Amino acid sequence: MNGRRVLLGVTGGIAAYKAAALASRLVQAGAILDVVLTADALRFVGAATFAALARRPVHTSLWERVEEIPHITLAREAEVVAIVPATANTIAKLALGIADDLLTNVVLATRAPLVVAPAMNTAMLEHDATRAHIATLRARGAEIVEPEIGFLAEREHGAGRLAGEDALVAAIEHALLRTNELAGERVLITAGPTREPIDPVRFLSNASSGTQGIELAREALARGAEVDLVLGPTSLEPPAGARTARVTTAREMDDAVRERAANATIAIATAAVADWRPATTHAHKVKKTDEPQSLALERNPDILANLGAQKNGLFLVGFAAETEALETSAREKLVRKQLDAIAVNDVGGERGFGAGPNALVLLWGVHGRKDLGAGSKRELAVRLWDAIVELKAERR
Ligand code: C5P
Repeated sequence: MNGRRVLLGVTGGIAAYKAAALASRLVQAGAILDVVLTADALRFVGAATFAALARRPVHTSLWERVEEIPHITLAREAEVVAIVPATANTIAKLALGIADDLLTNVVLATRAPLVVAPAMNTAMLEHDATRAHIATLRARGAEIVEPEIGFLAEREHGAGRLAGEDALVAAIEHALLRTNELAGERVLITAGPTREPIDPVRFLSNASSGTQGIELAREALARGAEVDLVLGPTSLEPPAGARTARVTTAREMDDAVRERAANATIAIATAAVADWRPATTHAHKVKKTDEPQSLALERNPDILANLGAQKNGLFLVGFAAETEALETSAREKLVRKQLDAIAVNDVGGERGFGAGPNALVLLWGVHGRKDLGAGSKRELAVRLWDAIVELKAERR
């Protein structure tokens, strides 16, 4: 953290007093600290505390030193923006892009990663509105430092207590570490299902939502990579910073990948590509009859194996969605498709497909293995990139 520019935003919750201890920790770790306090934060804590700890002027209004355009200057200088504590109100404003004070303007104007540490009453935290806003921020790439369960100012025990200082420092350090970690890398990601038409209205496909690949793309962008995303049919929105090619069939995905592969330095295949397609696609909707029908299928190209066969320095990561003999089949794929690593997930139970939680194990080489644990696809994207970066560095 030494010499890094950290912007600490403090909002108006009772836990605001804990932000002073955090500020001291960050300064001791060598950070150059800019503190922005909201008007409500100033009802709980004094600007003087933070100014003395940071040894710098603190910022409380859009309308001070207007000639410096404070929100833009602060937004550009920050290498990370951490909001500790974050109230339900501020979280809602950030999710909606409302900018009605200095802090919310800074967050809208910055390209630095955002760390948000919610702290509030349990009912407010569990309200659908708050949960949706937190999910929005997380989906945009913010690191949410989960509040703890514990003693609350209401003299109740529940969820909503500000995360501990160590967790806050770790989240800020992690955000700083990952910034620009992938600068100069060109990442190619396949995501989503493919759709193989039977006739104009029917197709063969699978339950993949594309979430894991989209989160990996988002995280790669947050770490400074250029990202090409080749995305099968999904209702999900890809991150704005990625160059996204939308495709429907496996053959279209294969073409799009081939066009982009030569330029890539890292490729990750998360797409659930249909292994077969109907041998013929009917030009018109097939009429219903009472006769039994059969469908002739032919093999689709294996996009990942094609990449492996001519990878030329490309660092190649595959996925294996399995329901049995998980790691044995994944290791077999690792070798056969000439991959540098493979992420295995068990799609047998509730996990795997869709927007829900996931669990991954990363395998490489003959014995290489790292359990990335369970979590949301957003969290696993962060952990998988941490592991890929480490593995790639070891190879050098
Ligand atoms: O062989 P299997 O389909 O289990 O391998 C899964 C891995 O291969 C995933 O990374 C998937 O994206 C990729 N794949 C592919 N093209 C196919 C089939 C799978 O890129 N036709």
